[in-house]
Amino acid sequence: MKRGLLFALIATSGCAGAPIPRDRLQEPGALIFNGYTNPRATCYRCHGGDGTGRFLRGPDLADRVPGLTRDQIRTAIFEGKGFMPSFGDRLSSQEIDTLVSWLQQRFGKAAR
Ligand code: HEC
Repeated sequence: MKRGLLFALIATSGCAGAPIPRDRLQEPGALIFNGYTNPRATCYRCHGGDGTGRFLRGPDLADRVPGLTRDQIRTAIFEGKGFMPSFGDRLSSQEIDTLVSWLQQRFGKAAR
């Protein structure tokens, strides 16, 4: 790996992602993901406002969601996974369901 690229990776990894501006979002799941419905939903900080999370703390969800069942996505959000915190006590069950549906619609097998 070239030294400049390595430096760029080190400099940008761990950066906090920014939400997508409120007026560009319509879907309820996107609004939750970007923290507009409930400030405790901080998904965008690690995965980026669009979920693709490049160079942020979380992975690109387009690489993950297609390989997961609805239950597996729900469990990851509810209980957390690795460095991802659990959201079971921060979000309502309904908010989590809305997020799961949005993620599946956006990144699921059917959407590809
Ligand atoms: C503090 C950073 C952080 C926040 C905040 C965060 N995530 Fe994550 N997320 C991660 C990391 C890191 C992983 C990879 C976990 C692993 O596989 O070890 C991950 C993985 C995932 C996965 C894939 C799980 C799997 O089994 O592969 C989904 C889906 C996901 N996050 C959704 C969300 C949603 C929705 C939110 C908001 C409610 C959220 N994340 C908030 C860091 C975060």
